Amino acid sequence: PKLVFIEANGAEHVVEAQADLSAMEVAVRFNINGIDGDCGGQAACATCHVFVDRPWMERVGKPSEHEVQMLELAEGAADNSRLACQVIVTPELDGLVLHMPAAQF
Ligand code: FES
Repeated sequence: PKLVFIEANGAEHVVEAQADLSAMEVAVRFNINGIDGDCGGQAACATCHVFVDRPWMERVGKPSEHEVQMLELAEGAADNSRLACQVIVTPELDGLVLHMPAAQF
């Protein structure tokens, strides 16, 4: 599936992602700025905070309670915020657009 990562400055990265990886792992593999993944995907650092493009919110689904607590620590978190390490790539998410917050650059 294709994933689209959009930097805070508007720079767009379209990548062919491997299913079953998290969106954070995909970003790290492709060296995309704005997603660090410092905790290795444990939902414990919030350096992989992304904003889900609004039309995709339903398909991506809601964060767990633990993830919501972590997101509260992320700067500028909003109702479409997710931790990219908790978003698992599936064929249904082909074309998913994720925006990286300015605070992560
Ligand atoms: Fe640390 Fe996602 S990689 S919270």
